[in-house]
Amino acid sequence: MNNIFYPNAEQFNNSPIPDMETYHELVAKFDKDYEGTWAKFADEKIDWFKSYDTVLDESNAPFYKWFSGGEMNVAHQCVDRHLETKKDKVAIIFEGDNGDKKTLTYAQLAEEVNKTANLFKNEFAVQKGDRVVVYMPMILEAAITMLACAKIGAIHSIVFGGFSAEALRDRIIDAEAKLVVTADGAFRKGKPYMLKPVVDLALEHGCPSVENVCVVQRNNEEIHWEEGRDHSYNDLIQKQSAICVAEPMESEDPLFLLYTSGSTGKPKGVQHSSAGYILWAQMTMEWVFDIKDSDTYWCTADVGWITGHTYIVYGPLAAGATTVMFEGVPTFPDAGRCWKMVEEYKINQFYTAPTAIRLLHKMGEDEPSKYDLSSLRVLGTVGEPIDPPAWKWYYEEVGNSNCSIVDTYWQTETGGHVISPLPAATPIKPACATFALPGIMAEVIEEDGTPTPVGEKGFMCITKPWPSMIRTIWGDPERFKKSYFGDCKKEGQPVYFSGDGAMIDEEGYITITGRTDDVINVSGHRMGTAEVEAAIKKHDNIASVAVVGKPHEIKGEGIFAYLVLKDTSLASEALKIDINKIIKQEIGAIALCDAMAFVPDLPKTRSGKIMRRILRSIVKGEAITQDTSTLEDPSIVSTIENIVNT
Ligand code: PRX
Repeated sequence: MNNIFYPNAEQFNNSPIPDMETYHELVAKFDKDYEGTWAKFADEKIDWFKSYDTVLDESNAPFYKWFSGGEMNVAHQCVDRHLETKKDKVAIIFEGDNGDKKTLTYAQLAEEVNKTANLFKNEFAVQKGDRVVVYMPMILEAAITMLACAKIGAIHSIVFGGFSAEALRDRIIDAEAKLVVTADGAFRKGKPYMLKPVVDLALEHGCPSVENVCVVQRNNEEIHWEEGRDHSYNDLIQKQSAICVAEPMESEDPLFLLYTSGSTGKPKGVQHSSAGYILWAQMTMEWVFDIKDSDTYWCTADVGWITGHTYIVYGPLAAGATTVMFEGVPTFPDAGRCWKMVEEYKINQFYTAPTAIRLLHKMGEDEPSKYDLSSLRVLGTVGEPIDPPAWKWYYEEVGNSNCSIVDTYWQTETGGHVISPLPAATPIKPACATFALPGIMAEVIEEDGTPTPVGEKGFMCITKPWPSMIRTIWGDPERFKKSYFGDCKKEGQPVYFSGDGAMIDEEGYITITGRTDDVINVSGHRMGTAEVEAAIKKHDNIASVAVVGKPHEIKGEGIFAYLVLKDTSLASEALKIDINKIIKQEIGAIALCDAMAFVPDLPKTRSGKIMRRILRSIVKGEAITQDTSTLEDPSIVSTIENIVNT
């Protein structure tokens, strides 16, 4: 599919960037006056309590500051400031796994946020700057909790509900959280599942910072109750006042931490700011999703990931939109669930991951045709490269060849989209993220900053700071510098490197080619090889281990482990099951290995470095092009190839 797909002009009226001419004009404005253009948007979009003094402070690079001296509040920006004009407009539509429906208008949301903010302040003494870990299902209270934290200036750190007690504990300890907010559990595929027992287990082995646990009732299953520590949200919320004054926050005050995997070590707490983050969340809702006041927008992500933060809660609400929160899974009760919801709520923008598209394509190729999907205008994808067959099905069958597909490239660290088509403007090439958004200096370069030649793989960098960028890694500024500003330079200055490779074509279109580091992208979720290997090494019989990504029909990549045993006589299927049990305990089911191979050794250089690239090639069935003569034992490569291929 090398065709170019042009936006259907009839679908788009009054788009903020209606054509490529306007796009180029905006890009030129940023080129000419970078800070001035950002300032113009910040003035127009943010309801400042106090105006800022400096647009961009680069004095302590790469710890950049945006809009210093300004004061605002993200909950005010997302909720309160809309009350004058939108109090009766639906802010959030909740649909439960079982079909339960609830809506909150902006006025109702404001009340719930205020009560919850008062609850955190009055009952748990949460103050500005305190960390609150949130381990919640996809229910309204998750969004309310985020906004309540923002309202009082507490820093939330959401941990995806699929992470294990160990993983949760690591994050609680690293963030030194004072309060944990959770739920008894929720529903998935028609059945209850539990969250609170995971919190109990996480806290059992000592998380000294945690004083209280606030538990929302969702599935009403029986749970253990620790008197003095555990508190019922549903009871306490009744007594709270619905009035709460927003805490004035300095632009750079942290809004949240979100832990994500890197190529080495433990997950890192990505720290985001208040003003810069929300500005870009709102602007990209307007530019990339073409959100209009009458639109209903649905992003299928979970609030445990950055997509859920920026594009279920903060972006849509800052833009004053109606956003859908869905508790269930796209394939329950059948593969028509999403399309049924699109029809019912008349969804205008639908945003999901390629993994979900591949799954829905496979399980319900004809399902879209059973529903009226004519409300759709923009279809989004995120998290991993989308393959042309999935793109084609999404475009033709879901979008009826009438919608723009926005293949949005971004990361936890970028806060919001950085490369994406603009739905009314960009001529789209399938499975291609297309162009950098105006204001984002995304460039495909070599390590020294020279542009990578057309058609070759280079480093996906962003060569100027931008407002919604990561500010630091919580508690580890050195790691922040090393992880993102250690690899590439432009004009001698370190620039942000994403960890991804990319290619640019003769027309300037950018295609992301995937991670260049030891991060595996499983179903659009980042998994660090080091983390998975550390979990596997907890098994007594493991001498050494290497995990790599293996192409997977639905997940994009699955995890493949090469295991070297201490006692090789114990190699068995049962041992593989035990290893996956440990992974589930240490990280969670999302990190389970799809396949494992017992090998006598790993390909190592004489200095002991594992040659992962060789292991990746073997699992993909590719010819080994790397020089193996420098290996400690070159013959190991064919030995492993024989084991994996038989
Ligand atoms: O490798 C890129 C891939 O997902 C990584 C970021 O993962 P995470 O921080 O978990 O955020 C996911 C949701 C924003 C990137 O480094 N990625 C994300 N979007 C795309 C993508 N790869 C290709 N195409 C995309 N559109």
